[in-house]
Amino acid sequence: MPEERKPQNFEAKLQQQDWRFSVSEESSVLEAALIAGIALPNSCRNGSCRTCMCSLVSGQVAYKIEWPGLSKEEKEEGMILPCVAIALTDLVLLVPHAYKKTEEN
Ligand code: FES
Repeated sequence: MPEERKPQNFEAKLQQQDWRFSVSEESSVLEAALIAGIALPNSCRNGSCRTCMCSLVSGQVAYKIEWPGLSKEEKEEGMILPCVAIALTDLVLLVPHAYKKTEEN
C-alpha cells in the first residue's frame, strides 16, 4: 500500500516585524498569513492586480498559475505575488504594510 504523502510545512517570517507563520504547499503564502492572523495587502487574490506584491528576501516559491503578473525584471529583483505563491522552502519576506488582524479589522 502506498504511503500517504504529508504536505511539507515551512516557516515564513516577515523580516521587519519579526512575525512568523507556518506555510505549506497546500495554500498560498497569503492564505497562510491570513489564517495565522496576519493581514498582507491583497485584493484580487488571483495574481493579476499586484496589490500583494512584496519582496522575497530569502527562500523559494512556485506559482499556482502559469503567468503571475510580474515582469522578468521584478522576478529578478526578488519580487513575488504571495496570493498565488506556494512556499518551497522557509521564506523571509519584506512586507512593510502587514498588520495583525484583530476582532475590529
Ligand atoms: S492580490 Fe492581486 S495579485 Fe495578489
